[in-house]
Amino acid sequence: MNILDFYKKKQNKEKISMITCYDYTSAKILSQSNVDCLLVGDSVAMTMHGYKDTLSATLEIMALHTAAVSRGASNKFIVSDLPFLSYRKSFTKNVSAAQTLIQAGAHAVKLECAAGNLPLIQHLTESGVPVMGHLGLTPQFLHALGGYHVQGKTVKSAQKIQEDAFALQEAGCFSLVLECVPAHLAEQITQQLSIPTIGIGAGPGTDGQVLVFQDLLGLNLDFKPKFVKSFLNGSDFFSTGIESFIHAIKTGEFPQHEHCHSN
Ligand code: KIV
Repeated sequence: MNILDFYKKKQNKEKISMITCYDYTSAKILSQSNVDCLLVGDSVAMTMHGYKDTLSATLEIMALHTAAVSRGASNKFIVSDLPFLSYRKSFTKNVSAAQTLIQAGAHAVKLECAAGNLPLIQHLTESGVPVMGHLGLTPQFLHALGGYHVQGKTVKSAQKIQEDAFALQEAGCFSLVLECVPAHLAEQITQQLSIPTIGIGAGPGTDGQVLVFQDLLGLNLDFKPKFVKSFLNGSDFFSTGIESFIHAIKTGEFPQHEHCHSN
């Protein structure tokens, strides 16, 4: 998969799949799957570091996890999130932030919202860095939005998201994440744009879907929003393996002869 394939998939009406990934072991597993694209999301702050939101993700954290994912899934197209405020500094620092993620192994960067970001997007795309946009519920704007709420429910706010989507496409974004917006709005934007949209909590009318690795595998017991579907009861699955190990230690079933070195 490369950015040309994103456009091709939209034209051919083939759905795009994206899964978040933060570490080498998961990346190895995903590298053997048919997933189109991996996202080293700033949700890493929550899933891997236990913070309550994405605002604690730093460029250093993003680069570290991007490099690990890149080592584990060298065959996959990797998008890495520019974290909170890392692209809202001086123009030079903003470009450097993108450079850090690309040099860590990402093929593209993702950033949230349009206002104030368009010159950077244009500069990055003209400099060879593909940019994925992100509109709707943008978690880095948690406090400005007054919490995690579905966006674009009023005519005015829906119109703003639509205008921003066009502005991002015009600035050079090769694709766009639409998070937690009404399904009819996501579908309308998807039909109007020439770049593919990837939805999360945005209904079936987008060109693709993204979910957080831990959510789709049922590993995150604390968090179950309406838009998440767990395709595995991963938490029980892991617990069964762990309990079997503990039981085998206690009963002496493990280790066996084949697990021992003779000399
Ligand atoms: O960081 C993340 O996981 C994301 C997805 C929700 C799109 O940005």
